[in-house]
Amino acid sequence: MTVQRVSSKWTKTKSILKNKGLAPYVPDTRLYSFDALEQMLETHSFVYIKPDRGTYGNGVMCVEMMDSSESESELPDNEKSYVLQYETKKEHFTTIEQLHNKVNRICQGKTYLIQQGIRMLRYKGNSFDLRVLVQKNPYGTWESTGIIGRVAAKNKIVTNHHSGGIVKHFKVLMSEHMTSEEINNIRKELHTLGTNIASQLQKSFPNLKEIGLDVAIDSNWNIWILEVNTKPALFPFKKFFKDQSIYQKVRKYANAYGRSTTKKKRAN
Ligand SMILES: Nc1ncnc2c1ncn2[C@@H]1O[C@H](COP(=O)(O)OP(=O)(O)O)[C@@H](O)[C@H]1O
Ligand SMILES: [Mg+2]
Repeated sequence: MTVQRVSSKWTKTKSILKNKGLAPYVPDTRLYSFDALEQMLETHSFVYIKPDRGTYGNGVMCVEMMDSSESESELPDNEKSYVLQYETKKEHFTTIEQLHNKVNRICQGKTYLIQQGIRMLRYKGNSFDLRVLVQKNPYGTWESTGIIGRVAAKNKIVTNHHSGGIVKHFKVLMSEHMTSEEINNIRKELHTLGTNIASQLQKSFPNLKEIGLDVAIDSNWNIWILEVNTKPALFPFKKFFKDQSIYQKVRKYANAYGRSTTKKKRAN
């Protein structure tokens, strides 16, 4: 039996949103269009725009809405302006129409999502998010087998390894913000969230065996699911932990459900 992969972020998001207990973890997300851009910027001053079938942080943009008091330009009072960031480039726009024209050119007719932007916790000034690995164990139940942290490179808007993001221990990143007891509580919540998300997605995608949740934590310690990968990278768990038993279990489970852990294949 092959391991199921689902590339559309929108399809996965819709499946998660069917579960009322999980919906609060999902940032407000819509298919990108001019109307969606306009409406999202009415409720959120910070949004992400990303390819529906993207990987590795490719093509991810964000928009920050500023009002005249924050903006360097000499705008009349109460006027808004918009800063689009793409890779490390920043571009200012004074109307949503101009902003949309630029975004539309970048999108090149492909399906994109627009999502509420999460102001993530930082580590030494750089944003970080977490990767929660969840696998079907040989007893047929979902288990959260590992968590790693990923810190964005300076001035980057994505934490992906392919964009210079670096891997750090969950505890090291969280220790700047909370006590050991609070870290353990969040770890437990992430483990439970991981298995609940996997069970929910399995209702739509029955042959799922492994998922990797990209999770952001904001300054109020709210947990947000940015995306769910159905072909999560396993190598960070090998290279990174001194405790080799973590990767041994990850590999044992992966081999049991039929994913080869020797051949190098595209994973994210
Ligand atoms: N809504 C968001 N708020 C804040 N950061 C985000 C948001 N969506 C994505 N990001 C950042 O961009 C990265 C890549 O986005 P993601 O949705 O995971 O797509 P990809 O499939 O390219 O990894 C995330 O790991 C995170 O660092
Ligand atoms: Mg991702």
